[in-house]
Amino acid sequence: MQFVEANGARIPAIGLGTWELRGRTCARLVEQALRLGYRHVDTAQIYENESEVGEGLRASGVDRDEVFVTTKVWTTHFAPNDLERSTKESLAKLRLAEVDLLLLHWPNPRIPLSETLGALAHVQRLGLARHIGVSNFTVALIEEAVVVCPAPMVCDQVEYHPYLDQAKVLDACTRHGMALVAYSPIAKGRIRNDKALAGIGEKYRKTAAQVCLRWLVQQNVAAIPRTSKIERLSENIELFDFELSDHEMRQISAFGSAKGRLTDFGFAPKWD
Ligand SMILES: NC(=O)c1ccc[n+]([C@@H]2O[C@H](COP(=O)([O-])OP(=O)(O)OC[C@H]3O[C@@H](n4cnc5c(N)ncnc54)[C@H](OP(=O)(O)O)[C@@H]3O)[C@@H](O)[C@H]2O)c1
Repeated sequence: MQFVEANGARIPAIGLGTWELRGRTCARLVEQALRLGYRHVDTAQIYENESEVGEGLRASGVDRDEVFVTTKVWTTHFAPNDLERSTKESLAKLRLAEVDLLLLHWPNPRIPLSETLGALAHVQRLGLARHIGVSNFTVALIEEAVVVCPAPMVCDQVEYHPYLDQAKVLDACTRHGMALVAYSPIAKGRIRNDKALAGIGEKYRKTAAQVCLRWLVQQNVAAIPRTSKIERLSENIELFDFELSDHEMRQISAFGSAKGRLTDFGFAPKWD
């Protein structure tokens, strides 16, 4: 496993995304992923699966210290007291004393960013989160956040895959020592039918999804692909035994455009 270093954090380059994984399936996938070598799991309060993620962690038998666990605070809990309460609820569900990374899930313009980031840094000082960061922040919001956040942020988790150009966000993260963590890294499964990526993969005996994930980690980006199928778990981490050429990296980057975004919940910030 490779790691992405960011403001004191060491983030395993591939993590298991768990959005929409529920109940027994979620616990079993987390358990199996950790047995197969995953060391990073991404959940969120709003996914309503933190208990099952915690169950999977314990069932895997992997030491707690070896696993990087991320959860996120939902936007309705951004007032300082709510944020602390919500974090404690997440930890109770996960049955963990602390998470490795605690993120603000989406920007919430109704509450001043300085207050929410102050509260986030406070729960970090309380020992409830080793590291803190944000998600779905535009470049403008990152710039605002680094000024008002009392502690270093380690990442911006945003949508990123070959169909979406995120050069500006990646550049802002790098400038501030933060990692970009890519969500929907295989474009919600659309990559599986990509003939160009499959073509590149033939040379390395890799699938289109593996080429796509390799393209991300080769940019020093962390990625959190989700699968509900045990047999795909291995596929999505077997990326560290081949390297894309500079030409292939550029070729894949050229597929991206500003219009390639797949996630828009209707309350998204104005992306620049
Ligand atoms: N911060 C945020 O606002 C935010 C937003 C969205 C997502 N996320 C996080 O990012 C994670 C990943 O994003 P995502 O779930 O939207 O999408 P994703 O990981 O890009 O794609 C998931 C889809 O790809 C399919 N898939 C997985 N591995 C595959 C493979 N090797 N070959 C072909 N198809 C494959 C899965 O189907 P099967 O289940 O059938 O394998 C599933 O339909 C989430 O689970 C969540 O943890 C965060």
